[in-house]
Amino acid sequence: MNIILCGYMGSGKSLIGRKLSEKMAKNFLDLDEEIVRKKNTEIYNIFSEKGEIYFRKVEIEVLKETLKQLKNSVLALGGGTPCYGNNLEEIKTTPNTVLVYLKMNIEPLTNRLWKNKNGRPLLKNIQTQEKLNEYIRKHLFERQFYYLQSDLKIDVSNQSPDEIVNAIVEKLNLIKK
Ligand code: S3P
Repeated sequence: MNIILCGYMGSGKSLIGRKLSEKMAKNFLDLDEEIVRKKNTEIYNIFSEKGEIYFRKVEIEVLKETLKQLKNSVLALGGGTPCYGNNLEEIKTTPNTVLVYLKMNIEPLTNRLWKNKNGRPLLKNIQTQEKLNEYIRKHLFERQFYYLQSDLKIDVSNQSPDEIVNAIVEKLNLIKK
């Protein structure tokens, strides 16, 4: 079985994905890292040199390649991955795969992302914490449409990484796909 994690930037997809893969003895893959490896440059540079549309094209391409080879793995997506092109459909039709949404509230997301927004191409120009909060509120509203089509939703706002991993394992046992 494969587990794919989606959710907004800063919701902990990579950290939780890594821990979950250890707990379930699966391989761990991070889509952003796959993009960096295949294009041999940082995500930040792709955005600044070629723009977001080019990044989304690359993301679509690398997602397709990754899904084709996915076996007994946990895959952490980028925050925007399920929201572009045919990506959600590609994910949902990958055999033996469960899509999990790590759902974090706007306030904790704002606090977390305010501290490390500068390395994030979509957030780096936002000047105040209030503006960041507003941006996340609107952006998350648009993106939830996609995230909420996941097989499982896990509330991650007030739980430690270990508690989140345990909650995912418990819910997976219930649906046994
Ligand atoms: C993005 C999220 C990032 C990365 C890129 C775009 C987004 O991944 O893919 O900067 O559109 O939300 P993380 O969610 O891992 O930060």
